[in-house]
Amino acid sequence: MAQLLDGKSLSLEIREDVKNRVEKLIHKNGITPHLAVILVGDNPASQSYVKGKETACRKAGIISTVVKVDALISEVELLKIVDDLNNDTSVHGILLQLPIPKHLNAENVIEHIRSDKDVDGFTPKNVALLTNGFPHLVPCTPLGIIRILKKYHIPIEGQHCVVIGRSQIVGKPMASLLLRENGTVTICHSRTKDLQAMAKTADILVVAMGKPKMVNSSYIKTGATVIDVGISRVDDVIVGDVEFESAEKVAGFITPVPGGVGPMTIACLLENTLTCYESLVENKR
Ligand code: GUN
Repeated sequence: MAQLLDGKSLSLEIREDVKNRVEKLIHKNGITPHLAVILVGDNPASQSYVKGKETACRKAGIISTVVKVDALISEVELLKIVDDLNNDTSVHGILLQLPIPKHLNAENVIEHIRSDKDVDGFTPKNVALLTNGFPHLVPCTPLGIIRILKKYHIPIEGQHCVVIGRSQIVGKPMASLLLRENGTVTICHSRTKDLQAMAKTADILVVAMGKPKMVNSSYIKTGATVIDVGISRVDDVIVGDVEFESAEKVAGFITPVPGGVGPMTIACLLENTLTCYESLVENKR
């Protein structure tokens, strides 16, 4: 039976640490860290994620402002909102909740976010820094996964790390971070030939396909570490991309869903907000 990688409890440790850092920063600078979240439209999943982010900010002593805008907003109007937040010196972090409606060009809007307020690490400058091996602001989900691996002393160096999924939010930055830790990295995706055989060579398998229960024990090498990034609602139950009951019989370590990667994403978002704060307020940039 695999050992459970408890992202929930690690996330609470990190959030406690952030809370203590926030208190000290307010005392030192007289300025409260402030995250602005832009929520376009009324996608229920996005609304629920944003609520989670608001609650986590409040508990850590970080101000959060949610800018709710109509789904029919024009791109010009949305860019104006981003510009206003870029120029607002009381705002340290800006997050555009994804996905946004199809008539808007998400790449273009993200590019408009000041790179030093980019808590998601999605702007071209931050992507380039990570890809070139000098990470500054790193996407929260892959960052959270590295934190879990380190917490449980799971070696990355020299290990075969297989990432299933090539998204800008998880797959690609995950591969860059694992490479930086000297892992041997393979990225697989929906067009990969014999995904099952590829996955089975992994010492560390990160599954981020968004396909409920797609990976079962036949994809997993005995003793491998399995990281499940999926969150889907199936018959009112939250499930991951990994069929947990079969996977845990062969894996060495495994993240549960819920309680694995999800809570770490939020904890890392709070940390990234402080990274922005420190570079903006303390370095007076
Ligand atoms: N939607 C799903 N995951 C994320 C994320 O990490 N950041 C943002 N901004 N939107 C998301």
